[in-house]
Amino acid sequence: NLFRRAQFQLAAHELRQLPADRGAEIAFAGRSNAGKSSALNTLCDQTGLARTSKTPGRTQQLVVFTLDADRRLIDLPGYGYAKVPEALRDHWRKVIDQYLSDRQSLRGVVLIMDSRHPLKDFDRMMLTFCRDIGLPCHVLMTKVDKLSRGEAARTLQQTRKEMGLLCPDATAQLFSSLHKIGVDEARATLAQWLNA
Ligand code: GTP
Ligand code: MG
Repeated sequence: NLFRRAQFQLAAHELRQLPADRGAEIAFAGRSNAGKSSALNTLCDQTGLARTSKTPGRTQQLVVFTLDADRRLIDLPGYGYAKVPEALRDHWRKVIDQYLSDRQSLRGVVLIMDSRHPLKDFDRMMLTFCRDIGLPCHVLMTKVDKLSRGEAARTLQQTRKEMGLLCPDATAQLFSSLHKIGVDEARATLAQWLNA
């Protein structure tokens, strides 16, 4: 399993600190506190790999994890956390936009949404952006352990329907880091992007 081999490489404040732009990488994006770092840990089967927190705004760098010599996962800072100073929010907005537009080795975005609050403005923006630049996007509707089966099925169906209008090629699935739901399904998509 490629993902179990994930190792912390570096945390970058600016794009020029990232490793050389070759090979293949996948970025984890989503609103602050959605569960990005937790999902990354779950997929890699390593609890302490990416730092998680109850307080939003935990990840404040682009954190790079290597899978092997030329494949990587990138944990992006959460978008739109109100208590982060505006100047810092603007900085990250620019850095993330530039990263997503320019990074040649980027194979796809894993968009993490809290399944109780899907398709907020940031998520819509990201899906539209992926459609515009033709970047593959796979949505993990996480924290599904907090929903009943019925609610989960309904919200998945509704989200897929709305996503179809924003980004027809994007895919979505249910996920839980707490209960390890949807892990193999998510790994399969990521492995395909990484050509693994
Ligand atoms: P930032 O780095 O601040 O943007 O947050 P993040 O998106 O990386 O979220 P993180 O993984 O740190 O998780 C935020 C909170 O949600 C933590 O308290 C996690 O324990 C919790 N959480 C994450 N995934 C799940 C899940 O699948 N189920 C439940 N119940 N809680 C979760
Ligand atoms: Mg995080």
